[in-house]
Amino acid sequence: MPTPKPLHTRLFEWLSPLVFLSSNPLSLLGVVAVTTATVLWVFLLPTLFEHDTSNPYIGIPAFLLLPAVFIGGLILIPVGIMLRRRSRRRQGLDVAGITTLTLESPQLRRLLSFIAVASVANVIIVSQWGYSAVNYMGTPSFCGLTCHTVMQPEYSAYVNSPHSHVACEQCHIGAGASWFVRSKLSGVGQVFAVALNNYPRPIASPVENLRPSRETCEQCHWPARFTGDQLLVRTSYGVDDQNQPASTVLEMKVGGQAWNGSVGIHGVHGTEGVAYTATDGHRQVIPQVTYTAPDGKVTVYNSTSAKATAADLAHGEKRTMDCVDCHNRPTHAFQLPERAVDGAMGQGQISPSLPYIKREAVAALRRNYPDRDTAGREIATYLDTFYRTNYPLVISANAAGVKNASNAVQAIYLRNVFPEMKITWGTYVNNLGHTDFPGCFRCHDGDHVSADGRSIPNDCSTCHNLIAVEEKDPKILSGLGITPGAFKGPQ
Ligand code: HEC
Ligand code: HEC
Ligand code: HEC
Ligand code: HEC
Ligand code: HEC
Repeated sequence: MPTPKPLHTRLFEWLSPLVFLSSNPLSLLGVVAVTTATVLWVFLLPTLFEHDTSNPYIGIPAFLLLPAVFIGGLILIPVGIMLRRRSRRRQGLDVAGITTLTLESPQLRRLLSFIAVASVANVIIVSQWGYSAVNYMGTPSFCGLTCHTVMQPEYSAYVNSPHSHVACEQCHIGAGASWFVRSKLSGVGQVFAVALNNYPRPIASPVENLRPSRETCEQCHWPARFTGDQLLVRTSYGVDDQNQPASTVLEMKVGGQAWNGSVGIHGVHGTEGVAYTATDGHRQVIPQVTYTAPDGKVTVYNSTSAKATAADLAHGEKRTMDCVDCHNRPTHAFQLPERAVDGAMGQGQISPSLPYIKREAVAALRRNYPDRDTAGREIATYLDTFYRTNYPLVISANAAGVKNASNAVQAIYLRNVFPEMKITWGTYVNNLGHTDFPGCFRCHDGDHVSADGRSIPNDCSTCHNLIAVEEKDPKILSGLGITPGAFKGPQ
């Protein structure tokens, strides 16, 4: 009976094919890369198991860098071996080892089983990574925080919105493989643009390749749902010393599909019957609109004010209207200073009892600041100085109120203005309405006329009944027991 070989000899024999194969710089580099990535991965395992993907600074190395290093290493090993064999052949040297092996030789068997075991381990590791990486790239924290400055504005608006629990990808990618691949391919371009620092500031809107809302929004919202009329209450505060409140009450005819056909705003616009051509790149100038009624009758409306030549129309963007043409800011809703201050006053973050606070808050917000840090500091100084100089009694009686107001005003600035991304008040238009931006009046302006002389309807009761306009104490609100300012209605 032969004496068994000592352990170290067996280990050495077992390892020798690997050592032989990889004894070239490229393969060695590969081996080092693979083992390093594996060791680091073991180190990071606890975090991965906890699915702690909320921190982008862990996520990037764990889910993107390490797997890249690991896979790169795996590729380098055979490449190195091939190059080495080729160069030895060219020099007429023995290609050694492997070529002289036969199927029966134990070295080959050992090598094959080594490769088999290593591959199974690699498949497990890589698939786990692939899965986590894909999940990770879909989290709002990856989309919103990883490219810190770039996505910060959209992210800040998002976390304060009704969709803050909807993942970015549910609107920006949606379900299905083809859009997933498309978005990841364009993502590669974006990563380069960020690395090379040549991305547009602000990021362009509209997003031209946004997926049709039928496949995104309509996965959660049912377009034909009948909503009927909705009450919309807007309370604004005056620029006088008492910040006199005034409320506007609209009965919005949201509508939908009812027993008697489509009614209201979602009625006509829920049927995908409206198509248009925009000529300015931002969908704000719309010289031509086509409406296809449910019975198939087509009406073309041409604008008499925004005249366009046949060439303009041919070059313009043609689009069928969907949710995003009205709700273009369902989640990245940047505010204007007056509205933001009204909102904060209505919610009590800024006390309406501070004299002239509406006027002064808006003035502080509208000033130009070089960056966000300076803005925060100077807004505080501005308001503090105003009350110290003009209302020293207010400061001594209600220092906390002034301080709270100042914090709220700073927060409004930080939520809406991003000098690094060239985003200031009103940079991104909101198409839902017509008072701050053209919105509905891009078409419903009375100037879009058909060949038979009809125009897209624009009288004030087409979309809403005006129940009260800037009234101090609207009867309807006291009748319903609603406190002005506390009730807002949908956005
Ligand atoms: C509820 C749906 C929805 C969600 C969720 C969402 N977005 Fe958007 N996003 C939109 C729409 C709609 C637009 C504007 C499209 C247009 O006007 O063409 C937009 C535009 C953008 C733009 C272009 C610049 C701009 O402000 O118009 C960026 C960048 C962006 N989103 C990033 C994100 C990031 C990052 C997240 C996650 C943190 C996210 N979005 C989540 C719907 C969404
Ligand atoms: C993953 C599901 C989901 C997707 C996708 C989605 N939404 Fe929503 N949306 C919601 C939920 C949930 C709410 C209600 C939030 C609440 O009431 O707090 C909501 C609320 C809204 C509201 C009412 C906001 C308000 O102030 O009450 C509008 C308008 C809206 N969504 C439009 C859109 C549009 C446009 C898109 C596509 C760009 C979209 N949604 C995509 C789930 C979704
Ligand atoms: C023609 C413009 C327009 C189009 C297109 C449109 N909406 Fe609206 N939508 C409105 C207006 C106006 C309101 C009233 C609320 C307001 O003014 O703040 C509203 C209200 C809503 C609300 C809140 C009220 C409710 O029914 O719960 C949701 C949610 C909503 N829309 C989702 C959608 C979705 C999803 C689509 C696409 C299928 C869509 N809208 C298409 C203009 C539009
Ligand atoms: C791209 C152009 C366009 C925009 C933008 C647009 N609409 Fe329309 N709208 C139309 C057309 C076209 C019709 C159908 C006119 C007809 O009956 O021939 C229509 C019809 C309507 C109707 C039905 C009117 C009726 O006769 O009953 C309502 C309500 C309405 N729109 C509301 C809105 C609201 C609210 C907005 C803004 C949030 C808006 N629309 C934005 C083009 C537009
Ligand atoms: C095509 C539809 C449409 C027509 C026509 C229309 N409006 Fe509006 N109006 C809207 C929508 C949508 C909003 C915004 C709702 C929101 O902010 O969510 C709005 C908001 C308003 C507001 C509140 C603004 C604020 O500060 O919040 C007033 C006031 C108003 N409209 C007055 C008018 C008057 C006056 C007319 C007639 C000249 C008119 N509207 C015609 C759709 C329309």
